[in-house]
Amino acid sequence: MPIPRETVEQILSTARIEEVVGEFVTLKKRGANYIGLCPFHNEKTGSFNVNPARNIFKCFGCGKAGDSAKFLMEHEHFTYPEALRYLAKKYNIQIEEKELSPEEMMAQTEREKMFNINAFADKYFVDTLWNTDEGKSVGLDYFHERGFLNPIIEKFHLGYSPSQWEAFTNYAKDNGYDPEFLERVGFSIKRQNGDYYDRYHGRVMFPIHNLTGKVIGFGGRILKSDAEKKLAKYQNSPESEIYQKKETLYGIYFAKSSIVNQDECILVEGYFDVLRMHQLGVTNVVASSGTSLTIEQIRLIKRYTKNITMLYDGDDAGIHAALRGTDMILAEGMNVRVVVLPPEHDPDSFGKAYPSDEVTRYLKDNAKDFIRFKTELLLKDAANDPIKKGQVVRTIVETISVVPDSIFRIAYVKESSLLLDMPEETLMMELNKLLRAKFKKSLGVEGEVIPDEPVVTQPQTKSEDENLPPGFYQERELVKLLLVYGQVKLIDTRVDEDGHEVEEQVSVAQLIIDDLINDEIVFNDPVNRKIFNVYDKAIDSGNLPDDQYFITNEDEQVSKLAIDLLTTPYKLDCWDRHGIFVKKEEDMLRKAVKYAVLRYKDLIIDGQLKEIENQLKEERDIDNQMLLLKKKKHWDDFRVQINRELGIVIAK
Ligand code: CTP
Ligand code: MN
Repeated sequence: MPIPRETVEQILSTARIEEVVGEFVTLKKRGANYIGLCPFHNEKTGSFNVNPARNIFKCFGCGKAGDSAKFLMEHEHFTYPEALRYLAKKYNIQIEEKELSPEEMMAQTEREKMFNINAFADKYFVDTLWNTDEGKSVGLDYFHERGFLNPIIEKFHLGYSPSQWEAFTNYAKDNGYDPEFLERVGFSIKRQNGDYYDRYHGRVMFPIHNLTGKVIGFGGRILKSDAEKKLAKYQNSPESEIYQKKETLYGIYFAKSSIVNQDECILVEGYFDVLRMHQLGVTNVVASSGTSLTIEQIRLIKRYTKNITMLYDGDDAGIHAALRGTDMILAEGMNVRVVVLPPEHDPDSFGKAYPSDEVTRYLKDNAKDFIRFKTELLLKDAANDPIKKGQVVRTIVETISVVPDSIFRIAYVKESSLLLDMPEETLMMELNKLLRAKFKKSLGVEGEVIPDEPVVTQPQTKSEDENLPPGFYQERELVKLLLVYGQVKLIDTRVDEDGHEVEEQVSVAQLIIDDLINDEIVFNDPVNRKIFNVYDKAIDSGNLPDDQYFITNEDEQVSKLAIDLLTTPYKLDCWDRHGIFVKKEEDMLRKAVKYAVLRYKDLIIDGQLKEIENQLKEERDIDNQMLLLKKKKHWDDFRVQINRELGIVIAK
């Protein structure tokens, strides 16, 4: 059912972009805007920008941009109506809706249905745990016996699935769920005879929540008495549209704010490890759920903090799992520390065996940065064997080489030099050799670096694409100047009819448009031209449009371009930041405008001259040749003039 247009408008204007995004991305205030790590691509510096004034987000790195609804569609993979409903709920806006008809029910997306059945099952398992005899005596008792208290059991929505083979399947069927669907989402398994039975029968249940707290899947643990029967200890939901194991961290929903507050994420392996730490009051904990850590999981954590502490079992398997993870974390530009527990323990049993303050002290005293962790571990094997030690050195240097930040690399070299008892220079040389080899391999792959320093608009250094009209990028630059500074008034000196220099206030828009029209230049690109025309008309009426006019423009191409340009970092950003136009900055803006216009003209002239030269090559008629040469002279002269002016602007 479509949401009424007025409601859509109400929702979108009520939604605060910084609040919507803030639920998923850690944002830091930077001037009037917010900055964070982009959730849509991998990065080490925050190029993800949230602009409350314009109510939009934009990533300078990957280019994703838009309003609150767009963000949710990209980030949560919501459909547009799903995004609107989410926002309506968040801001308590009523959406008038009638009961769903059967057809509309059918049209309900698969995803929504999956969230639905998971919420339904969650309620059922929790209910069974607390309110049925078997649930209480078997399920609840199991948790209690393992030392978990009711508040934790409640907080994590732990549940119980009855031992009777078809209990949940039948209950769900009675409530209108189709068994084939139940099978697809993992609750039911089909027997040879076509009947369905419960995948999780007789297990304690762990719902798995996504970032927003919705249940996306389950893990079910077999009970002690059954454990000897060689059944899998855990049954987990199969992968589905809403549950991807490699992108999921158990406990993230309950941990995210604490991770931000502590600026650290503790990583464990299992469900019970998470519960135990929470019960001890350590809440910035998530679990990779037994699979080896994935890059997606690391990036999920990176949205909240750059610091990961791995808390792994003290046995060989645990240590090796930790080792595998560290390089991946380092390569993401994050800091990783490792706490190894005594060999007989995992975090759960350790947390059960010792009181909370001893556990936290152990974590504090035993957290080793990865260099120390890895070096000590490897050296233990190498003992006094020089060949083995050589291998250790190489392995450590290789690990250091994945660290993206050179400052950190140097720090790590210093540290490992002490630990390995090797001169820094030797390690550095090894490291540089590796880095050079890597660099050669990746040439051209490194992303563009956005300078922090405000500098005057730079010439277009990119070689212009053959297929683009001449001056394409520079034209964009001018449109951007119009959008960002069009309304700003500058003092301009003009020569009046009597030959006197007079000072007058002129808008940036007028400076640009007048200058171009004066030389009979109009923008090539049709969208740019539309914006040009708006300003041209507005200058006559004296009523200049603001950025919102373009952002909300009904012409989608215009609004898209406006959002794009308005959210790309501008090299004159000090204007935005201070809002006060001191003389020096005014000069800078004037210079930037002049420079941008001249550069544009220069490129237009270039284009014209190239075309004339091409025509001259083809032209056989002598009169036409003369005509072309005359034209060429005109543009050549023009160029000389522009270059002179450019020289003056640059030298000033
Ligand atoms: N796991 C799984 N399937 C298995 C075994 C393990 O999904 N067959 C996942 C679970 O998320 C589990 C984690 O891997 O929590 C760690 O496994 P393990 O250490 O074996 O289990 P614990 O959580 O420690 O459970 P318990 O203490 O009850 O043995
Ligand atoms: Mn355990």
